[in-house]
Amino acid sequence: MEDGHLLDHVLASQVPVHSLFGGVVPELASREHYRFASALFDELMARTGKRIGEIDLVSVSRGPGLLGSLLVGVAFAKGLALGVGIPLLGINHLHAHLLAAGLDRELSFPCLGLLVSGGHTNIYRVASPSSFKPLGRTLDDAAGEVFDKIASFLGIPYPGGKLLDELASYGHADRDLLPRPYLLNDNLDFSFSGLKTAAVQYIEKAFPADAWPRPLRRVDDAPQELKDFCASFNLAVVETISAKIQRAFERYPCIDSLILAGGVAANSLLREKMAALMEARGGSLFMPRADLCTDNAAMVAYAGCLLGTEGAYHPLDMETVPRGKKMPDDMLFRMNPSWATA
Ligand code: KG4
Ligand code: ZN
Repeated sequence: MEDGHLLDHVLASQVPVHSLFGGVVPELASREHYRFASALFDELMARTGKRIGEIDLVSVSRGPGLLGSLLVGVAFAKGLALGVGIPLLGINHLHAHLLAAGLDRELSFPCLGLLVSGGHTNIYRVASPSSFKPLGRTLDDAAGEVFDKIASFLGIPYPGGKLLDELASYGHADRDLLPRPYLLNDNLDFSFSGLKTAAVQYIEKAFPADAWPRPLRRVDDAPQELKDFCASFNLAVVETISAKIQRAFERYPCIDSLILAGGVAANSLLREKMAALMEARGGSLFMPRADLCTDNAAMVAYAGCLLGTEGAYHPLDMETVPRGKKMPDDMLFRMNPSWATA
């Protein structure tokens, strides 16, 4: 980042490694982080033509996430901060996903934030880049997890959400085929287990095991009944999410913008529905550009940039916050105005 603009970013995807096992293997994830961290840093320095002494802040994902992977990233960032003598800033990875939308277009606050990924389905009220109030979350599976599990049940290799979405675009949805789970309440939480069970029961009843080639990797190999099922499933997930977002806006009538982020933000129907919802409200929809919806370092750098301009930093004994451990609300920032990066 330079003057609030992204100079460049590099990424080493672990999807090919984990897809062999049908999901993320934590031990492999941390080993891959360790294997690639220095090389990616060197590559970025070479591509931007920057010298190490020109870096004035290092921001790093502090959590939530897998402990081993977080430790590798945080140790690397601490070494860099200590070696160069610059401030370190630990970023909430989930907040960074949402803030990434601001890289291309200035965000307006307050707004609502919907983070839909393989690990999370969260709704926030976002008052500023450093103020996120959680309003709702999933009580069981995350939206991406449900897509991936049902995809896997259909013989689509991990992570199957993308192909399931593509298949859906060629199908006709039956609105009554599957339930819209966990809506008969007055909260903003999600629970997808009922939908998952209903989908599995339908698949077992309706489709013989040899109805299409498994693993299924191409739309062309799928029969129309499968495309129709995917369309119904996609619609059920998206309408469930959409219902809770509408409810969130009813709670906060003064808010008229929404950030949609996380891997599932790539879902074509979800994007369409959220765009229609915001248009009907006369508000704005912010989304990170496609390559910054999935995990990336640019969003963490950008979040660091937004907070660093105010002089926020963490001491070098900052700890990681793995998944399941409560994230401190204030992230324990300290402020040192003389370290402000702008
Ligand atoms: O944020 P992300 O890249 O990483 C993790 O949370 O790990 O999200 C990945 C998730 C996966 O579950 C993937 O299947 C899902 O996003 N995903 C999609 C689509 N593209 C990616 N789900 C539904 N429709 C899509 N088009
Ligand atoms: Zn993520």
